[in-house]
Amino acid sequence: MHVIVTGGAGYIGTHTCLELLASGHEVTVIDNLSNASQEGLRRVERLTGKSLRFIQADLVDPVATEKVFQECPNATAVIHFAGLKAVGESSEKPLLYYHNNLTGTLNLCQAMQRHGIKNIVFSSSATVYGDPASVPITEDFPLGICTNPYARTKAMIEDILRDLHAADSTWNVILLRYFNPVGAHESGEIGEDPNGIPNNLMPYIAQVAVGRLKQLSVFGNDYPTPDGTGVRDFIHVVDLAKGHLRALEKLEQQPGAIAYNLGTGQGCSVLEIIHAFEKASGKTVKFVIAPRRKGDIACCYADPSRAEKELGWKAERGIEAMCVDTWNWQSKNPKGYGR
Ligand code: NAD
Ligand code: UFG
Repeated sequence: MHVIVTGGAGYIGTHTCLELLASGHEVTVIDNLSNASQEGLRRVERLTGKSLRFIQADLVDPVATEKVFQECPNATAVIHFAGLKAVGESSEKPLLYYHNNLTGTLNLCQAMQRHGIKNIVFSSSATVYGDPASVPITEDFPLGICTNPYARTKAMIEDILRDLHAADSTWNVILLRYFNPVGAHESGEIGEDPNGIPNNLMPYIAQVAVGRLKQLSVFGNDYPTPDGTGVRDFIHVVDLAKGHLRALEKLEQQPGAIAYNLGTGQGCSVLEIIHAFEKASGKTVKFVIAPRRKGDIACCYADPSRAEKELGWKAERGIEAMCVDTWNWQSKNPKGYGR
């Protein structure tokens, strides 16, 4: 299958491109490199011994987006990763987030429609559930109140894609709701390379361990959780990447518009992650307890059974592998790709 991968140069995109190439798919990546470098994709080609096509283009530009589709006449599906994802920045620059994520998606879908490509896998997020009434979260939970513009773009794009299918049932839409992706490919050659100071827990811990940052702030230890710190469903990025291949296979059965949680089903606290990382790396992760972060919820983990039943997908890697692989990537590449 020829798959167009938007945002394929990013963290989850590179790991997914690797799995796609390894499984014999043809891959064209569209990325504007606003949060990535081409180096990750070069490494994907080296690791697989296969090549992909890279087109530097911005989805916000309708002409450039159309051109990509003209150059890919045999493509049959799109995996749509491209988007801005920094929660805090989205509150400071809402127009940038709405324009990039929504206009980009509209341009993409219009080009797909024109070229008769009506199969899409979209990177959604557990954030669409807001603060869930209980855990584990199933896909039938009501979509919650989003606390920031980034989260709202995910919820809105889900609506747009469901509407597309409602208007024309030949569209097939798989909404993958990721929980907390962490880890890196076991080679240590590709991994997460955040711009500036990381917002997310795992890259922050890794940069403290490697000496780039002084100490971690643990945002709150007074949550109603076993140790008082936030609980999340961390999922290894390689498991997540493999979930996209199962979703592509599902699209061939013309499933309509459907959402799947991609998580492990296991909650893990901030303190548990810190200790697991110290064990995996042999380093001490210095931390202080700080006030809660605005917009954070206490506890969030998936019921991933629909994905297991309908996609034949299940996360295989646990917290230990997530920490070992993150450390392998971070210690081999202390400055990431050196962007
Ligand atoms: P990332 O920033 O590493 O990758 C996104 C890629 O999209 C980048 O390479 C960036 O350059 C590109 N991009 C952004 N806007 C673009 C545009 N207008 N045109 C072309 N390319 C553009 O992020 P990631 O962690 O790999 O996330 C991939 C997707 O998954 C995103 O949509 C993100 O919102 C979603 N997601 C991520 C997480 C997470 O914790 N990492 C959780 C849930 C959902
Ligand atoms: N945390 C800290 N210190 C830090 C960073 C995070 O204590 O420096 C804590 C948070 O308070 C939270 C946990 O670690 O309890 C996880 O925080 P992350 O920022 O790593 O992840 P979030 O669960 O807040 O959100 C992430 C992505 C969202 C995505 C969501 C899906 O940032 O884009 O997972 O569940 F939508």
